[in-house]
Formats: sequence, structure tokens, C-alpha cells
Amino acid sequence: MNILVIGGGGREHTLCWKLAQSPQVEKIYCAPGNAGTAGVAENLPVKADDLDGLLAAAKEKSVDLTVVGPEAPLVAGIVDLFQSAGLAVFGPVAAAARLEGSKAFAKEIMAKSGVPTGQAEIFSDYQQALANLRQRGGPIVVKADGLAAGKGVYVCKTLEEAEEALKLMMVDGIYGDAGKTVLLEEMLEGEECSILALVDGKDYLLLPSSQDHKRIGEGDTGPNTGGMGAYSPAPVVTAEMEEKIAREILAPTVRTLAESGSPYKGILYLGLMITAQGPKVVEYNVRLGDPETQAVLPRLASDLVPLFLACCAGKLAGMKIEVKDESAVCIVAAAEGYPGSYQKGQVISGLEGIKEEANTVVFHAGTARQGGELVTAGGRVLGLTALGAGIKETQKMAYAALQQVNFDGMYYRKDIGYRAIDR
Ligand code: AMP
Ligand code: GLY
Repeated sequence: MNILVIGGGGREHTLCWKLAQSPQVEKIYCAPGNAGTAGVAENLPVKADDLDGLLAAAKEKSVDLTVVGPEAPLVAGIVDLFQSAGLAVFGPVAAAARLEGSKAFAKEIMAKSGVPTGQAEIFSDYQQALANLRQRGGPIVVKADGLAAGKGVYVCKTLEEAEEALKLMMVDGIYGDAGKTVLLEEMLEGEECSILALVDGKDYLLLPSSQDHKRIGEGDTGPNTGGMGAYSPAPVVTAEMEEKIAREILAPTVRTLAESGSPYKGILYLGLMITAQGPKVVEYNVRLGDPETQAVLPRLASDLVPLFLACCAGKLAGMKIEVKDESAVCIVAAAEGYPGSYQKGQVISGLEGIKEEANTVVFHAGTARQGGELVTAGGRVLGLTALGAGIKETQKMAYAALQQVNFDGMYYRKDIGYRAIDR
């Protein structure tokens, strides 16, 4: 079969790499892709938010299954569009993708499902929000309701910081419509983890647990980024904890969406805080995490194609996911200055030395070809994943392999996986 993967980051390179191993797959297309996806797929020059262009491409290339990487096209209704054209597509319809598209809607679903989460108040009026904020004081989390490319969350230690964040969103409008409605949420304390699940509308299967590193600096300091590295499994998610998360969070969420008339199909990502009172939802995402995908998919022994098809068809019941014993660590190499402004077009060297036979693999994120040379083309440039015995050994393998890679201004965190190693 022919598969179309939508998106062009590290997550999508990993998806293409994994799907290419399936005996069912003849050809993979990736839109728009990057220099890494070009090695396993044919890149199509269509942007991930050009829904009509993507539909036309899927028809022209006789695509049998489309897999959507990023959230924006899902929230914009790409699944509805493809389905109405009779095309198979893996992901939630727009009504279900609101779980990520609106944090207020997500809170509503959590409340209906009885899912534990931080207490939050929702405001569309600045003065009312400000009054509530002053009454509650810091620490507090200020969140834009809509999609803000991962930037609309301010974890504020003090009232002053929170007032500033509120003003940026509701008065200055730096996130446009996404910040017109704001959540003021209780700050949760504990260790974060990511649980990704395959969902077919009623049944689900958990992928192996993982942990992302969102801050730019070592020891989780400095500004938030898209993610500077990830590892899997996350030891904070014991077998018992995983069972609790499935029973108390995943199952009721899936049930509520089915009862609401918009059953959830695709990947449901639970961003969780493991608190002293148990797991609480920080956020829902409606897609695979990036860079969690780069740590999770290499650990799967199972073919993803039958699993994705089963999700689309509502036939996940009775299926299984085989997971390798090895742990995975993915280190992201970013451009100097990221998550602020950074340069593009730096030549990347040394990737030839990274060998899949040695259980190390490079997933491209912001890369491009320029006159035959591989160059940087984004803030997060690439992710290097190693598979090995335990997080500690695997972390060593990943950093040793990364020493071979170079580009001007290359920056990476030196402590990916430290929470697991500290245990
Ligand atoms: P999000 O964009 O929703 O993933 O939020 C970004 C990050 O902000 C999360 O990964 C958490 O580290 C942090 N965060 C969000 N909500 C809370 C909360 N209620 N308490 C503590 N940290 C939070
Ligand atoms: N790694 C966090 C995310 O994908 O949202």
C-alpha cells in the first residue's frame, strides 16, 4: 500500500522510518518532509496546513492511508475532509481534536469523565480574570485556550509574573484569538511523563511510556522548547501506575468522547503529572509527541500499519503491541539561540558515522538539502536515538554517537534521562 505522512519534523521522519519497515508498505510520501524523510519517502512540496493541497496529493498518488503528524491540520479538520472524500486517514475528527485545540474544552471533557487534573477557572474577560488571579495569587499557571505552537503556557511562581502573562495574552493579544480565552490553573507538583495510546473510538492500546525534557537548559531550567530530548520507558510509570492511568484517565476520556457523538480515533497523548495524590492530566494532545516519538517508536517490535488500520476501522480489540526490552534515549541537537531566534543554513557533518546496526539512528527535524549539502533549516535540527540496555548505558551510547555530528552553533542538553538515572 501507499502511505502519506503529513508533517516535516523529527516525529514525521521517525514515522516514515518505522512505516518503511512494514512488509505491507510499497511507497511512502511525506508532505512536506525534510532531508531525512527524503531518504525513506518521496517528499511532496505541500505544506501541512494546506488541507486541499494534501487531499489533491493523496488522490493523485493513490494513497491508501494518510497518517497525520502535527496537531494543526487535525484541529483544522483534515480527517473530516479526507473521510468525506472516502480516503482512509489516521487521526481524530475535528470535533475530537478540540481536546488539544481548546484547553477549555479539554477541561470540560476531564470534568465529565471524572479525570483528575489541576483545578482551573476559565475567563474571556480580562478584568474578571485579573480579579480571580489577585484573589488566588501565585504560584499559578496561565494558559491560552487555543493552539499557540506550544508556547501558550506560563508556569508562574509569583502573582507579578502571572499578571504579566495574563496581560500579554488578553490585552496585548500576542497569541491572537488563541489567547482571547484564558485558563488560570492550579500549579501541579510532581514528575511529568507522556503516555501515548492508540484509540479506535472505544478500545485502546498503550504505547510504552516516555518522558520529554521541555526546558532548554540542564536540570530543567530556562525557557520551554518543543522538547530537547526524550527517553523510554519512564520509570515513574510503574506497571501499577500504568494500569491506574489507563483505568482512571484513558478509559473514561475515551468513553466520554464516544458518548458525546465524536468518538476518538488516532493517537491520544496524555501529558501527565505524577503527583503525591496520583496521576493528574496536564494536557491532552491529539497526536504523537515530538521528541517522544523518536524514543518510543524504535522500541516497538510490532508493525504499525495493521495497528493504524485497526484504529481507523474500530477493530483494535484483541490486538497487541510487542515492545522490545531495550530502552531508548533521544538527544535533540538544536541551533544556537533556539527557542529564540537562530540561524539557518549551517552545514551538518558527521552523520555517516551513525549506524543503525550499532543501534543508533538519526532522525532529522529542521534539515534541508542546499546545493547537495545537508544544512540546518529549523530550531530543532535533529534527534539522535540510541537503543540499549537500561537508560544509563543507552544515554552513554547516544552521547558518544552524537560526538560525531557537527554544525556551527550546535547545542544539546547533556543530561537527557537524568531523572531515570537518578532513581
Ligand atoms: P503544555 O503546553 O500544556 O504542554 O504545557 C507546557 C508545560 O507547562 C507542561 O509540560 C508542564 O511542564 C507545564 N505545565 C502546564 N500545566 C501545568 C500545571 N498545572 N502545573 C505545573 N506545570 C504545568
Ligand atoms: N513533546 C511535547 C509535545 O509533543 O507536545
